Amino acid sequence: MKQKFTNYELVCYDKNLVGETPRIRAQAYAPSRFENRYPGCACDVPAHVYTYSFEPNPDWSSFYANAAEIRKYFEDFAERHDLMPFVKLNTRVISAVWDEKKGIYNVEVESNGQRTNDWCHVFVNGTGFLNDWKWPTIEGLHSFEGELLHSANWDAKTDLTGKKVALIGTGSSAIQMLPRIQKVASHVTSFMRSVTWISPPIGANVLEEEKENAKACGKAASQTPQAQYTYTEEQKKRFREDPQALLRYRRTLEGSVASLFDMFIAGSETSKGAQQLMKAEMENRIGPGHEDLKARLIPSWPPGCRRITPGDGYLEALVQDNVTRVHAEISKVVPTGIIDDQGILHEVDVIACATGFNLAFTPPFNVCGVNGVSMADEFQPEPRVYLSVTVPKFPNYFIINGVRGQWAAGTALPAHEQCVEYILKCAKKIQTEGIKSLEVKEEPITHLYEHMDSWHRRSVWNADCKSWYKNNEVGGKLWIWGGSALHFLKTLQEPRYEHYDVQYRTSNMFAYLGNGQTGVEYQAKTAALAGDVHAQLTPYIRIADTPWHI
Ligand SMILES: Cc1cc2nc3c(=O)[nH]c(=O)nc-3n(C[C@H](O)[C@H](O)[C@H](O)COP(=O)(O)OP(=O)(O)OC[C@H]3O[C@@H](n4cnc5c(N)ncnc54)[C@H](O)[C@@H]3O)c2cc1C
Ligand SMILES: NC(=O)c1ccc[n+]([C@@H]2O[C@H](COP(=O)([O-])OP(=O)(O)OC[C@H]3O[C@@H](n4cnc5c(N)ncnc54)[C@H](OP(=O)(O)O)[C@@H]3O)[C@@H](O)[C@H]2O)c1
Repeated sequence: MKQKFTNYELVCYDKNLVGETPRIRAQAYAPSRFENRYPGCACDVPAHVYTYSFEPNPDWSSFYANAAEIRKYFEDFAERHDLMPFVKLNTRVISAVWDEKKGIYNVEVESNGQRTNDWCHVFVNGTGFLNDWKWPTIEGLHSFEGELLHSANWDAKTDLTGKKVALIGTGSSAIQMLPRIQKVASHVTSFMRSVTWISPPIGANVLEEEKENAKACGKAASQTPQAQYTYTEEQKKRFREDPQALLRYRRTLEGSVASLFDMFIAGSETSKGAQQLMKAEMENRIGPGHEDLKARLIPSWPPGCRRITPGDGYLEALVQDNVTRVHAEISKVVPTGIIDDQGILHEVDVIACATGFNLAFTPPFNVCGVNGVSMADEFQPEPRVYLSVTVPKFPNYFIINGVRGQWAAGTALPAHEQCVEYILKCAKKIQTEGIKSLEVKEEPITHLYEHMDSWHRRSVWNADCKSWYKNNEVGGKLWIWGGSALHFLKTLQEPRYEHYDVQYRTSNMFAYLGNGQTGVEYQAKTAALAGDVHAQLTPYIRIADTPWHI
């Protein structure tokens, strides 16, 4: 907004706590890293493509970055662009209610128990899906007398050294946690009721290249763990001094992720090949024997159906002597431990739940739209969201990569950025063309959903796995984009305003044409223009057929 708008106010509310220093206050910029502090929490997407597409970081210490370093990247970004003045932390949005007469949302927020009111012409919901962690529904869970932890609410002071730990889950969080916990705990009991693919690392080909080069230079000894690579000082210097080299490197990485898309097409050669390769790799890493583990962990559905989970050290940790695997349902929790559905009591000191989140299709606050309709009601039996960014009956309301957005096929940040660009184009139109209400129509969503549902029949996401892409229902509707990451970016490049109903603030829709002159002419008259005034008055006079803008 700082680049593209004049005469605007921007307030970003975030419920997370306020720290004392500006650095700590910048925590709003890496939320999943701020809230998830479990042992081993890291990004499985290569660090150089887990950045804003326009803001590279030559100084990433390693191929995959840990939570602290990712958080620092976002803190530095906020500082460099002086974003904190726009942010109000420790402030939870309670409700946003559309006022049709005024064409605004009345917004109620709460901070330190105090409720206050704000309002806006354009409301943007950036609360994500995976923000509301939940305890598993297990009888007696809170009767446990040891320490009860959740991956998304981890107490950093917890020391698991020498303890008997129960770890529940086989999702990404549990897969990252186990290798760390197994090394320090006296015993880990891993409750694994579901199968999952453990994939090679994302960006594995580039990672392998780095490791080969390091080996050739005699630097391999420092390269631990297995699926990690530490950048040398020379590499970081080169990235700093040669932005084109860094750009080529980032494009190679992003390209290697994008080029895997065929794996998500059911029955494709790439999908079949990936399944064979991952099965062989998992069997190899589990090692000889452990046939029960192989049978109970390796899925029959194709890889990618659930989010791909590279698990460095996970399979190796599972077969250590101090790990017991329980491929059964949990029957109940008692004060001393967990009883499985075979009636066996597993006594433990700590229960670590890596059991996931309440999937937040409906915003975590009350939203009311046209004629007072509530979004929670409108999203029953299912949410109807246009291109993942807006909702009928809720004018001027936008979401960043919401329901049916790009969550499965590529890296996250470009998709988020493209949604933001789309929203800013709409906001600019609302601001400059005297628009009171920009409301998406129902029909485009009906058509979009028909297309997506039919497209998904050919995707591996549609196979028989349980995943949050299908709201954890095997056979459920898919709530992710039907296509590749690039396809999503292209589709959202320009808003199709013909899919919207528009109401103006004035009875004549052209009232915004005003006094018949453009801003730049007016500024030239009042000597408010600095620099080459003639060039600014005549941007269409050019030396080649390049885009111009008044
Ligand atoms: C442990 C973990 C690891 C992950 N790792 C990866 C990864 O490696 N690669 C990847 O692509 N994706 C990963 N993801 C998925 C990840 O959630 C997204 O990629 C990314 O964080 C989504 O960003 P977001 O801004 O949409 O939502 P979030 O990061 O969840 O941010 C939502 C923000 O909204 C705020 N908020 C919520 N409710 C309110 C309210 N009522 N009022 C005010 N503020 C509110 C929250 O405090 C939070 O700051 C991971 C998720 C988890 C949980
Ligand atoms: N990329 C990363 O680095 C990274 C790291 C962490 C998280 N994430 C993201 O965050 C999302 C959430 O990951 P997550 O691992 O926290 O959660 P998750 O994928 O939802 O996994 C939760 C796990 O807990 C199990 N579980 C839930 N309730 C249970 C119960 N009552 N008894 C036994 N097991 C139970 C589930 O089994 P069932 O499957 O049988 O229900 C599942 O194995 C992921 O999809 C991923 O996108 C990413």
